[in-house]
Amino acid sequence: MERMSERGEPVLEIAGLSKTYGGRGGGVRAVQDVTLTVGAGEVYGFLGANGAGKSTTIRMLLGLIAPSAGAIKLFGQDLRHGQPPRKVGSLVDGGAFYPFLSGRRNLDVLARTQGLDGSRLDALLAQVGLERDGVRKVKGYSTGMRQRLGVAAALLNDPDLVILDEPANGLDAAGIQEMRALIRSLAEEQGKTVFLSSHLLNEVQQTCDRLAIIDHGVLIREDTVAGILHEHDVLRIVATPIEAAHAALAPNWTCEIVGAALNVRAAKADAPEIARRLLAAGVELFSLAPHERSLEEAFLAITQTETADA
Ligand SMILES: Nc1ncnc2c1ncn2[C@@H]1O[C@H](COP(=O)(O)OP(=O)(O)OP(=O)(O)O)[C@@H](O)[C@H]1O
Ligand SMILES: [Mg+2]
Repeated sequence: MERMSERGEPVLEIAGLSKTYGGRGGGVRAVQDVTLTVGAGEVYGFLGANGAGKSTTIRMLLGLIAPSAGAIKLFGQDLRHGQPPRKVGSLVDGGAFYPFLSGRRNLDVLARTQGLDGSRLDALLAQVGLERDGVRKVKGYSTGMRQRLGVAAALLNDPDLVILDEPANGLDAAGIQEMRALIRSLAEEQGKTVFLSSHLLNEVQQTCDRLAIIDHGVLIREDTVAGILHEHDVLRIVATPIEAAHAALAPNWTCEIVGAALNVRAAKADAPEIARRLLAAGVELFSLAPHERSLEEAFLAITQTETADA
C-alpha cells in the first residue's frame, strides 16, 4: 500500500465496471469487471490492443454510455449523482468539429456554448502546436492537426481531470513527442490529472506514471511502468556451451535459451550462486547481467500468460 500514500486523493475510481453491448447473454462483453483508481496529479495510461475495451470504458467515464454494471466516482462523487464536483475535459474520437470553420473559430464556438470566455484560445492553440494553422479551415487539417485541436478542445475549460482517448492517434514521431511533453506538463506544471488510452506501448511507457493493461475487456495488470518492466528479474547469461549452462541451472531456475544467450528468471542477488554453478559445471562464462524487458516484451508475456490461464 506504499503507492497509495505516494499519490494524491483519488480523482477517478472505477469499481466492477462492465459493459455488454447488444442482446442479453448473447451480446459483446466489451468491458468486464474493471476496477482501478487514479490519484490526483497522476498521468495514468490505459493500454490495450484494438477492441480491448478502452473507448467503451472512456465513454462510460464521460457518461456518454451507461455501464451494464459497476460504479464510477469522479472526485469522490458517484457519476450517477450528476455533474462531477470538479471540471473534466475530454477527447474522444478525435473530437467533432465544423469542417468549414477554422480551428480557432471551432474552439471559439465550443467556448461560447460552454459559457467560457475566449481569451485563452491563442494560448491553447500555441500549447498544442497549432499557432500557425489555427486560422485554417478544419476540413484541410491532417489527422494529426485534428487530434491537436481535439486536445485543445479538451483543455478549453481548464479541467482538473483530462480524459484522452488515444491522444497520439495520427501523430507523426515529432507530434508524438510534443504530445508527450504537453501531457507531462499538464500534470507536472499545472497539477492536472490525466487518464489516457493508447495501444502504443512505447507511448504509455514514456508518458505515464502508472498503467493498466486491458485485454479482451478484462483488466489484467495495474502497476507503475517500472513495476511492470521489472516484474520478473531476468539475468542474461552468455556462456559456452550454452546447453551445459542450461542443464546446470534448470533444476533451480526457470531458464530459456534465446539465440546465443540464456535467460534465467532470477534476482540479481542470485548472480554469485549462478556463476558458481556454471563454473562448477565446467561452463565458460562470458557475461552475466540483468536484462531489462521492454514494455512490449512485458505486455506480450502478460497477455499471453493470461490467455493461456483462461
Ligand atoms: N456500439 C457498439 N456496439 C456493439 N459493439 C461495440 C460497440 N462499440 C464497441 N463495441 C465492441 O466492444 C469491444 C471493445 O471496443 P472498444 O471500442 O471499446 O475497444 P478499443 O479498445 O477502444 O479499441 P480501438 O483500439 O480499436 O479503439 C469490441 O469488440 C467492439 O467491437
Ligand atoms: Mg478505441
